[in-house]
Amino acid sequence: MSSVTEGAEGTQGRTYDGTLLVAARAEAATDVVTLTLRHPAGRELPGWEPGAHVDLVLGDGLIRQYSLCGDPADRTSWRIAVLRAPGGRGGSARVHDTLAEGASVRVRGPRNHFALRPAARYVFIAGGIGITPILPMTAAAEAAGAEWTLLYGGRTRDSMAFAAQLADRYGEKVRLVPQDEAGLLDLAAHLAEPDPEPEPGTGTLVYCCGPEPLLRVAEERCRAWPPGALRTERFQPRSVDESNETDESEDGDDANSGAFEVILDRSRRSLTVKPGQSVLRTLDEAGVPVLYSCEEGTCGTCETDVIEGEVDHRDSVLTDEERASGETMMICVSRCHGPKLVLDL
Ligand code: FES
Repeated sequence: MSSVTEGAEGTQGRTYDGTLLVAARAEAATDVVTLTLRHPAGRELPGWEPGAHVDLVLGDGLIRQYSLCGDPADRTSWRIAVLRAPGGRGGSARVHDTLAEGASVRVRGPRNHFALRPAARYVFIAGGIGITPILPMTAAAEAAGAEWTLLYGGRTRDSMAFAAQLADRYGEKVRLVPQDEAGLLDLAAHLAEPDPEPEPGTGTLVYCCGPEPLLRVAEERCRAWPPGALRTERFQPRSVDESNETDESEDGDDANSGAFEVILDRSRRSLTVKPGQSVLRTLDEAGVPVLYSCEEGTCGTCETDVIEGEVDHRDSVLTDEERASGETMMICVSRCHGPKLVLDL
């Protein structure tokens, strides 16, 4: 059984929740497979834009997010690329070992917290499998007539999915940096000249996806850039210290983990979130239906509108501006600085 539903406000409209078939499987690089997913009855799938991802519900509690890396104009199939993560938590191994051509898998989404905003120029930076959301972004930037460059690093040339395709199609716009041949990506040089243009749509935006050390260097190098110029997507949660680095507790050492009241505005209920317990778990235990996936603040599934209260943001999804607005929160990890939160639930 499958369903296509209207997404929450702020998401990309329709989302899907149901079984899809693996229509094709191919090796894209060492330890990377691409899967082409189609509806079993050949139905059209919800539309998506570059930066979107879907959940694969793999059984035994394994739910993993993968960026869509095919052509958004193709409404009959979705394509993902999955790296077999050495020492991973089992999701990528399950995909590699069980999702052969003809297999079926439950898929939810798409959702997009890494959308490509209008700009005159783009600097794309990808590390390893972080190329997946960037791939359709390069096509969109090209189609829009924007200036763009891609700096793409990986362990070895053979491990870099889509590298040859990108280099063939876009030539000098693409700089491939296999680590065993050329060392690490030189972000200091690549991001040395901030574009001071503050106007939306006319300046340069930097999109970066890859392992945590790469994202941290990009964030460091972009401190001299205008706020909001850098957009990142994480595979894993950033540390609480980092995600909360501007927070100063005034109430004691453990104030960020203390109890608070959460009021559900639409259902007129009030619940107490205990110390060390998430808002999501509190709602779940009280029988309040909420969508969630990663439970670690990286996928954006549990994003919830906030009506009142000062959010203690602990996620790895929202930008600094989105956090400052206080309009939404990831209820799987984020908490409250005060005694009360009012949510649009
Ligand atoms: Fe993934 Fe909350 S469930 S961000």
